Amino acid sequence: CGIVGYVGGQSALDVVIAGLKRLEYRGYDSAGVAVLADGGLAAAKKAGKLANLEKELSDRPLPSGTTGIGHTRWATHGAPTDANAHPHLDNAGRVSVVHNGIIENFAALRAELSERGHRLESETDTEVVSHLLAESFSAGGDLAEAMRQVCRRLEGAFTLVAVHADEPDVVVGARRNSPLVVGVGEDEYFLASDVAAFIAHTREAIELGQNQVVELRRDGVTVTDFDGAPAAIREYHVDWDASAAEKDGYDYFMLKEIAEQPKAVADTLLGRIDGSGTLLLDEVRIPPSELREVTKIVIVACGTAYHAGMIAKYAIEHWTRIPCETELASEFRYRDPILDHRTLVVAISQSGETMDTLMALRHAREQGARVLAICNTNGSTIPRESDAVLYTHAGPEVAVASTKAFLTQLVACYLVALYLGQVRGTKWGDEIGSVIQELSAIAVQVEEVLGTMEPVRELARSLADKNTVLFLGRHVGFPVALEGALKLKELAYMHAEGFAAGELKHGPIALIEEDLPVVVVVPSPRGRSVLHDKIVSNIQEIRARGARTIVIAEEGDETVVPYADHLIRIPPTPTLLQPLVATVPLQVFACELATARGNEVDQPRNLAKSVTVE
Ligand code: G6P
Repeated sequence: CGIVGYVGGQSALDVVIAGLKRLEYRGYDSAGVAVLADGGLAAAKKAGKLANLEKELSDRPLPSGTTGIGHTRWATHGAPTDANAHPHLDNAGRVSVVHNGIIENFAALRAELSERGHRLESETDTEVVSHLLAESFSAGGDLAEAMRQVCRRLEGAFTLVAVHADEPDVVVGARRNSPLVVGVGEDEYFLASDVAAFIAHTREAIELGQNQVVELRRDGVTVTDFDGAPAAIREYHVDWDASAAEKDGYDYFMLKEIAEQPKAVADTLLGRIDGSGTLLLDEVRIPPSELREVTKIVIVACGTAYHAGMIAKYAIEHWTRIPCETELASEFRYRDPILDHRTLVVAISQSGETMDTLMALRHAREQGARVLAICNTNGSTIPRESDAVLYTHAGPEVAVASTKAFLTQLVACYLVALYLGQVRGTKWGDEIGSVIQELSAIAVQVEEVLGTMEPVRELARSLADKNTVLFLGRHVGFPVALEGALKLKELAYMHAEGFAAGELKHGPIALIEEDLPVVVVVPSPRGRSVLHDKIVSNIQEIRARGARTIVIAEEGDETVVPYADHLIRIPPTPTLLQPLVATVPLQVFACELATARGNEVDQPRNLAKSVTVE
């Protein structure tokens, strides 16, 4: 969910609505706002996208005030209805709360409140907070103190932001696990799940730590822990500007983000390779002596980031000879993985806030493992809780389906793998040197691919009425196939599956029928030619059974021509780097299919970009 709070001299409603627009990627099931005005509190909320709320506000305007809060929701407890939308008020309508996360003991609290005569109207876990806050406030008359008392009673993960009609120039926020940052303006302050919400007003921000309560007044900010002990304020400067979060003439953020990939890749490499082709990763701050001691690497991530992690495993094991496994964060967290202080856990996350990944990294640290985060968001929770971080420099990614973040995660993974190889010295010393050279040239190749995408778009449009598309790959092409299928599920809502091509004969080949589109990612015929030859046989096997083959193959690879119903060319790269160029057509393909099927590209149904619940 996305949260915004404001106190200052401007119209709170305008600031909050503009902020929610920037946060809509975090959830878009329903939206709501509350403002303090004329000694009272006025609120509006509506199921569906933010546009529904805006319509409601133009039909029934709220009085104007300079203190307010807002919310855009990704439903957890209760369906996305008007009643379940945030904010939630107490029975007297004096206090208003928005919430991100899950309050695990809400059923017990709800029963307790009902016994004391409160009427609870929604099915959400959030509503209990507004009632508890109202009770605590009436005992002491201080919203921040009331918030601290309530937080001490809550179990689970949450960000809460509240206002009270009896404290007209105050916004109070609380944070445990879910994200919340403060924006510092001149005589005005902002609270938001993500700096994007206030970047148009200020680039100065304050990080909030775990279990902290913040009180915003027009003349300052106070941060304490849940017991009221003052906490140090950590200010930072946001180094991207407001235009980075605009569509810049593209119809969708996703199209803009796909187009930005060459720059994102180049920016992620910038300053990390010196003139002689040596990697400079001192910023990682794990001393080489410790990296030489590592005996095992475990990568944890979710969704698209997990696919980057799967590819990283091939690179890490090849270049470093350190055993590496990649696991879904949500699975890793609830098993008994074997870890110790010589295990390096790599947590990959665009947002730095994904709860499953955060919990996995805590699980790892509790057992003494060192954690390196690969992350795109400065100041977010995952890098803060890790021992070290390598930032991807993709810039803000707004479309829910990840594109440029994925490519830069791959670059970061290669850098880590090559750096470990460089530090530890392996038999692949020469290869590492030449791959570093090739990596520095890769942005140009991504650009080349982007220049040849029209036939891919045309093909996508011609498949708009299909129900199923399969994806096949081998080696690093296998995670690429999984990523291609994920993109298609997310965007086109089609049944799409990725398989390791070698597994085909063990089951999936039964799915092949006349004219079924199957996308095949073909490895380079140079290098490991055996991989290439195996997959060419696989293409023949499926074609013999009627599949319509869509083949992604390196320029100059003529062996595939007779078996390809559609051929998509990518530039030659070393085998391990091929995902950087092979993924791009799959992104374009999914995006165009979504458009052809009339789907919302940037905000696919049921999804959210940053999932801060488990
Ligand atoms: C959500 C998004 C995915 C993303 C995943 C991991 O499910 O919809 O696109 O890959 O989270 O996100 P992260 O921010 O941790 O990379």
